[in-house]
Amino acid sequence: MTSTLFKSVITLAKTTAVAALIGAAPVYAADAKAPGSLTVNVDQAGAVINRDIFGQFAEHLGTGIYGGVWVGKDSKIPNVRGIRSDVVKALKDIKVPVVRWPGGCFADEYHWRDGVGPADQRVKTVNTTWAGAVEPNTFGTDEFMDFTQQIGAEVYLSINVGSGTIKEAADWLAYMTAVAPATAAMERAANGHKEPYKVKYIGLGNEMWGCGGPFTPDEYVTKMKTFAHFVHNHNPEQAAPRIDYGAIAKDLMTGKPMDSLPKNPNGMKRVAAGPNSSDPSYTETIMKAWKTRSPIYWDIEGISLHQYTWGPMPFSEPATDFNETQYATVLLHTMHIEKTISMHSAIMDKYDPNKNIALVVDEWGVWLKPKPGTEPMFLQQENSLRDAIVAALNINIFARHADRVRMTNIAQMVNVLQTMIMTDGKKMVLTPTYQVYKMYVPFQDAQFIPLSFDAGVYTVGKLALPKVDAIAARGKDGKIWLSLTNLDAKNAVDIPVKVPGVKAKAARGEVLTAKRFDVINTFDKPNEVTPKAVKFKAADGKLVISLPPHSVTVVQLVE
Ligand code: AHR
Repeated sequence: MTSTLFKSVITLAKTTAVAALIGAAPVYAADAKAPGSLTVNVDQAGAVINRDIFGQFAEHLGTGIYGGVWVGKDSKIPNVRGIRSDVVKALKDIKVPVVRWPGGCFADEYHWRDGVGPADQRVKTVNTTWAGAVEPNTFGTDEFMDFTQQIGAEVYLSINVGSGTIKEAADWLAYMTAVAPATAAMERAANGHKEPYKVKYIGLGNEMWGCGGPFTPDEYVTKMKTFAHFVHNHNPEQAAPRIDYGAIAKDLMTGKPMDSLPKNPNGMKRVAAGPNSSDPSYTETIMKAWKTRSPIYWDIEGISLHQYTWGPMPFSEPATDFNETQYATVLLHTMHIEKTISMHSAIMDKYDPNKNIALVVDEWGVWLKPKPGTEPMFLQQENSLRDAIVAALNINIFARHADRVRMTNIAQMVNVLQTMIMTDGKKMVLTPTYQVYKMYVPFQDAQFIPLSFDAGVYTVGKLALPKVDAIAARGKDGKIWLSLTNLDAKNAVDIPVKVPGVKAKAARGEVLTAKRFDVINTFDKPNEVTPKAVKFKAADGKLVISLPPHSVTVVQLVE
């Protein structure tokens, strides 16, 4: 581990540990209490739950890319142009909307030219952040684009702001998006890709207060503005509209700050590297600068937020074989992200009440003890039913903030931290977290519906948590979808569901649970935590949904 990353992680941990303490103070009455009935307020539809909230993050870290996604064209593992087919199929099944790449801390040391052109001529570099592993650069820009096209996802590129130059970043975007006869487009065509790629998002650096810098918020804003100004997307479908200087001449002459310029609705969105957990300084400084900008010179469309769930201490919480107190502690800590998001949203509201700028939670998830026998800096950890519940709780929080939170990227997609998929050679297993992402597909681009609900209280010793967490939405299929999570590790619970104005005859869908909260899927036993079909029929006009202990249930209402 480099000292910069170490500082970065510890800074993140310190902030989160303080946050966790606040979160650990019981916010609910200390006595256990059953939940009440749940009312789905269909007449009060809220914001659209942007499908990008279900985004992924893939970093050059451990076996996240090499082995996990890329096996090479000559591998015996079935692949298409070097990208493993089993992983592609699994990711297509959860309809991954967007992938953030190439880091993480790795991004601010990544030089894209190392990873384009003939494979046998690519240089080998050292991944200084992640265990000093040799980076063969065989998975570079064109391979990443191929991968996203194979799984049907959009692209979120982390630009190297830390150790790269503006020219390097601008040239990278030109390589990906320019059209002939621009030399950059000809170079891409010579590498086999005539058509320009689409880049939906760029991240302007990563953790600039830590491994990407470190910079003070003011230092970062000075740097970030220039990247936001000079790094262009040239794809004709995404390019910014030409500026009509005549129309804005008066504003330019008087130096009056403009509110906005016409934007391409399909234009690339720029995400400033934002806060470390609950530290408000980056959000405040970036938003203040944004408010007084002239968009002709620079603009952004999002600010990122990173917050991990560590448990009491980073790297120390067991990923399996834990007791109920440890189970509840991690759930309590993860729910602290609600306060963090509310706090940053409030700052953003001061400067941007119309919510033009998205809060992008582009790194989140549980960060636990490494899997025994693995390189600790490869960040491989087991993934249990508890992690599936963590995923559901976080997605529910993001959905409740869908008006501001418009993309998130769980860390990470394959073999790293709270992963979707684990691989070992030709073997592959889907984690409990993966199953939650699959069950939640109907919530992608669905319209949030507020609930009225007394969640009840689940107590473990001195810890008090909500017993049940729930969200509802009207899916793009027109159906009303509900997700209900029973946090209680000991008790099942029945939830009467009322939907005023709707005759709900039944609810059907899937439940995810297991004998214990720490059960994992393994290569030998891959189906220990997999969803099972459930159906609840209304009786005498009353619909009741039964939730087993430590479970996630997703159902659609049958009218
Ligand atoms: O996801 C692992 C690391 O966590 C990322 O590289 C970095 O941004 C964060 O500290």
